[in-house]
Amino acid sequence: MKIAVLPGDGIGPEIVAQAVKVLKALASDGLKVELEQAHIGGAGYDAAGDPLPDATMKLAQDSDAVLLGAVGGWQYDTLPRPMRPEQGLLRIRKGMGVFANLRPALLYPELASASTLKPEVVSGLDIMIVRELTGDIYFGQPRGIQVNDKGEREGINTMRYCESEIRRIAKVGYEIAMKRSRKLCSVDKANVLETTELWREIVTGMNKDYPEVELSHMYVDNAAMQLVRAPKQFDVMITGNIFGDILSDEASMLTGSIGMLPSASLDANNKGLYEPSHGSAPDIAGKDIANPLATILSVAMMLRYTFNNEEAAGRIENAVKNVLAQGYRTADIYTEGTRKASCSEMGAAVVAAL
Ligand code: NAI
Ligand code: MG
Repeated sequence: MKIAVLPGDGIGPEIVAQAVKVLKALASDGLKVELEQAHIGGAGYDAAGDPLPDATMKLAQDSDAVLLGAVGGWQYDTLPRPMRPEQGLLRIRKGMGVFANLRPALLYPELASASTLKPEVVSGLDIMIVRELTGDIYFGQPRGIQVNDKGEREGINTMRYCESEIRRIAKVGYEIAMKRSRKLCSVDKANVLETTELWREIVTGMNKDYPEVELSHMYVDNAAMQLVRAPKQFDVMITGNIFGDILSDEASMLTGSIGMLPSASLDANNKGLYEPSHGSAPDIAGKDIANPLATILSVAMMLRYTFNNEEAAGRIENAVKNVLAQGYRTADIYTEGTRKASCSEMGAAVVAAL
């Protein structure tokens, strides 16, 4: 298993160091891993004048999987847009062709009181949002700001999906649904947007290939409401890039802290980019207080989806449950009566639990 390790900026190096500890612990138990580190984001700009240096892209392409921390920092905010750290992230996602973004929202029972919703609404919550990541209004042409006939400035973005793009993400959704409770909810706005009318038609048509899956459709505005009203009605959700961006952030907060949420972004061959759902948290960087669990859980997703090693993935997830049960809490999930842990202590606790 060749893994490219890209710590990035801010808390990135701190949290990735904990995930690497976990990988090394598994390696000492016989898992064959080869890790190679490279720069991305502001770190790439500092080292090579580019947020995605050629050497980093090449390493990502030559590896089976990429583990990424986070990118971004205030010191880069005045750089021209193509040099900014965030461009490194968009370019590596596009360059790797990772069109399927899997974002689980899973509530650990120990953290039920960390959610802003009532415990009975969120307890037992376990949703998988499958978001299309390389198309939709974020990439569609034409786009830009131009002056219209009336001499007024006009902003333009275009929502587009072609059939093959819809089909490949729908396939990912169906296959994940088959491995879970076989309930798939497709989210669109087919009553108003033709792009999503096509989406609904294709997703519906593919149900005949997965007759065991119970497919439902929901308009995105209703889905946003249902996620806070009764989130446990959902199991697997599939949706386009922009709706998925918004709904997955909404779903993440049902679970208490963004520091708990991993993600996987996969290509057609399950090669993947794995990163926590959060950013570089410059406000807490360098203090050894960030929560490394989202990154550690991203390693579990890597083992499951790219390396097909459910056993090792389960071991990591059980170790995380274990440390939470032992009371370890980083600052973002700390509550009265629990054990305050630093970032590195949390990493060490997971390794010990492993
Ligand atoms: P952020 O996710 O970095 O931070 C939001 C809040 O959550 C902050 O208060 C932060 O301290 C806290 N937080 C985030 N991760 C945490 C963790 N693991 N443990 C404990 N607390 C945590 O988002 P923000 O502040 O909007 O952006 C900061 C920088 O990160 C910006 O430069 C932004 O562009 C970049 N960013 C990068 C992303 C990525 O690399 N995938 C995603 C989102 C933002
Ligand atoms: Mg977002």
